Amino acid sequence: MRNTLVIYSSIDGHTQKIASKISEHIKNDANIDLTSLAEAQSLSLKNYQQIIIGASIRYGNYRKELFKFIEKNFDEISNKDNAFFSVNVVARKPEKNTPDTNPYIAKFLKATKWKPNKLDVFAGVVDYPTYNFFDRFMIRLIMWITKGPTDVKTRFEFTDWKRVEDFSKSLI
Ligand SMILES: Cc1cc2nc3c(=O)[nH]c(=O)nc-3n(C[C@H](O)[C@H](O)[C@H](O)COP(=O)(O)O)c2cc1C
Repeated sequence: MRNTLVIYSSIDGHTQKIASKISEHIKNDANIDLTSLAEAQSLSLKNYQQIIIGASIRYGNYRKELFKFIEKNFDEISNKDNAFFSVNVVARKPEKNTPDTNPYIAKFLKATKWKPNKLDVFAGVVDYPTYNFFDRFMIRLIMWITKGPTDVKTRFEFTDWKRVEDFSKSLI
């Protein structure tokens, strides 16, 4: 079985949850290490045959640390089997939920020279009750403009877990 490293760049924990589901789906076929991007900084990537990275979007951007990590480890990552997935809520829209149609996949590919062997995008969560006043206001405004849900008492999960499973199977 090959050694697989699954790395997540997550603020509210949803990308971590997706990364953890992916790890569960492939754990019978690979030796998995699941780690945050911060923890991955101190790991040697030499010991892995496969690297999977997932990252979420906040106010239109991935974290700067994501691109620093990829740049620093570019050779190690691109010489192995590798995959990237993005998590954002634009992907809740059917016309924006594939690697070819999601604007944040395009943004990712523009920002790095890494060309992942496998790419996917998953719709994330809008969890109004947990947001501070500013974020709740902003997300609600964006949702209103893009015809999404605006009930601030509710958590909305848009993730298609079957798609996460299908992506996982493609990694085995
Ligand atoms: C403050 C904030 C800003 C966000 N900005 C965007 C955005 O610009 N575009 C988008 O598609 N999703 C946006 N999202 C949705 C997140 O990508 C989504 O909540 C995702 O599930 C977060 O994953 P994480 O918990 O791993 O950080 C935003 C969410 C928050 C809380």
